[in-house]
Amino acid sequence: MLKVQEKINRYRRRNGSATRTAAADKKKENKMNILVLNGSPRPQGSTAQMVAAFKEGAESAGNTVNVVDVCRKKIAGCLACEHCHRVEPRVCVQKDDMFEIYALMEEADMLVLASPIYYHNISGQLKCAIDRFYANATQPNVPPRLKKVAMILSSGSPDMYTGALFSMEGDFMDYLQLENMGVFTAYGKQNGSPEKLAELRAFGASL
Ligand SMILES: Cc1cc2nc3c(=O)[nH]c(=O)nc-3n(C[C@H](O)[C@H](O)[C@H](O)COP(=O)(O)O)c2cc1C
Repeated sequence: MLKVQEKINRYRRRNGSATRTAAADKKKENKMNILVLNGSPRPQGSTAQMVAAFKEGAESAGNTVNVVDVCRKKIAGCLACEHCHRVEPRVCVQKDDMFEIYALMEEADMLVLASPIYYHNISGQLKCAIDRFYANATQPNVPPRLKKVAMILSSGSPDMYTGALFSMEGDFMDYLQLENMGVFTAYGKQNGSPEKLAELRAFGASL
């Protein structure tokens, strides 16, 4: 009798864990490789804090998040030499750290552009990286998996986001045809506040 009960228990244990594993696998299937380009030069700044909260949330939901601090990289501005549009496969003539980003973009399902607002727009360092998309993250060569985009912006004053939103809509939604997953902003006292960081964590966890 004990043996039968033991068999039933074993069956239940196995069946239960098999169901859980299948559910975990299914969840994992839909998870994304997320590339965050952080354009703030301040390692502990407001943008970095929001990025960290987003990453924590997104990873807790099973996503993979790569954060590149573009200010710690050597990424020159586009030279407009058009070399990239004359060669096949397309490649930029400037051999700098942008190649790390090109490689990560090939694997990314979602791009997050994070930046402080400088003179009503994203930082110059992030703009340099975006301009270099011209080589091989441009129509008709959009990285194969890239489907979604979001923005994280930090500013001193409110209503400072028109420049960044213009780029979001024109460059990323209209031109690259990415789905807008959200624009998250913090100004003044919102920067680094527990409420704002919780918002970013929840956004990450929702993916
Ligand atoms: C060069 C520079 C330009 C800035 N321009 C603006 C601006 O146009 N509007 C604004 O609200 N804040 C502006 N700020 C303030 C930053 O956007 C703000 O302090 C932001 O929270 C910094 O983010 P971080 O901590 O990630 O560096 C500027 C700051 C700097 C250093």
